[in-house]
Amino acid sequence: MIILENLRKVYGAAGTVAAVDNVNMAVQEGEVCVLIGPSGCGKTTTMRMVNQLIAPTSGRVLIGGRDTAEIDVVALRRSIGYVIQQVGLFPNMTVEENICVVPRLLGWDIPRMRARAAEMLVMVGLDPGEFLHRFPSQLSGGQQQRVGVTRALAADPPVLLMDEPFGALDPINRESIQDQFLKMQRKLRKTVLLVSHDIDEAVKMADRIAIFRDGRLEQIGTPDQVLTYPVNDFVAGFVGADRTLKRLRRIRVEQVHTGLVFTVGSTVDLQVDAAPGKIHMDDAGRVSGVVVQGRDIGVAVVGMDCDLRVVVSELLRLAVPWLPCVDADGRLRGVISQSAISRYLATPALEGSVRANVEVGHAANA
Ligand SMILES: Nc1ncnc2c1ncn2[C@@H]1O[C@H](COP(=O)(O)OP(=O)(O)OP(=O)(O)O)[C@@H](O)[C@H]1O
Ligand SMILES: [Mg+2]
Repeated sequence: MIILENLRKVYGAAGTVAAVDNVNMAVQEGEVCVLIGPSGCGKTTTMRMVNQLIAPTSGRVLIGGRDTAEIDVVALRRSIGYVIQQVGLFPNMTVEENICVVPRLLGWDIPRMRARAAEMLVMVGLDPGEFLHRFPSQLSGGQQQRVGVTRALAADPPVLLMDEPFGALDPINRESIQDQFLKMQRKLRKTVLLVSHDIDEAVKMADRIAIFRDGRLEQIGTPDQVLTYPVNDFVAGFVGADRTLKRLRRIRVEQVHTGLVFTVGSTVDLQVDAAPGKIHMDDAGRVSGVVVQGRDIGVAVVGMDCDLRVVVSELLRLAVPWLPCVDADGRLRGVISQSAISRYLATPALEGSVRANVEVGHAANA
């Protein structure tokens, strides 16, 4: 866990500019916390105080319960992977050498480093045979960013700081690298502090989002919390007037679908492959079988782990009030309806927890 305690950084001879202004927050073990806010609000400064690249004016950072000011700075930085805002691969080193910078410092032997570099590249979707021996100038911007991420992860540090790691990418590359990172993170469970200025990226990547303005922490909470209950006009403006639509991306069919009474019936086998056909809702209680997506059965289905953005898009495209949802094997599990989605979005269940969070933030910041 990373704890920022009354963290403050002031620049200028007269101490005039508070780049980071009394920030209090914690990043839980295994969590991705996204720092977000307008340019110049103190995101990079906050992050660089975590690995002591910038010394705080006051306050402290604790990692795993230890005050980082008391940890040897070299040891500290080796235990923290860092992806900087400008990628920053060493131009005179190959991809392999770049990835192995920290492992080499840690004294790994060559076969172990080689294996690790190759393994890391595969994880971010780059073919080791093709890329290990190239130089950064021989990579696209997106490939460089991927190598930057693997370099930060190579020595398997428990903590990862990422400063706009996917910043300079086109939207398609960006989505795919974000997806790769999320997949990796599900396996590795690093404690991640990630800086972004893109609210869509934050909503997609974050377990919790911390919104900054002028060096101050305005609000911290899950994407759903900050989108549902922005604490003030600044946060509301920052997350956008379409914040309810933005929530859809982080809600899955599983959470909203209505289980069907008709999943129990088993008198008719659908045999969809052999004899495609439609079932009427009223008849569904008597059937079982596998629902197959496609024109043949004249019905669109959505998976249980599908996000509601896709579902709503399909509901609108097809102009229907509901869609059947199926599990990974194609078995009908229920329906997801426009009205159930509306009810879910209107639920005030989270309000208490986010207010509490916010009060803690404000009280500590006061
Ligand atoms: N060395 C410095 N001396 C004086 N002011 C600085 C220094 N470094 C940063 N600042 C100021 O501190 C504030 C916060 O900078 P920081 O780099 O943390 O912003 P940021 O949120 O990362 O912005 P961006 O999204 O543009 O990267 C800015 O107003 C910046 O001008
Ligand atoms: Mg920055």
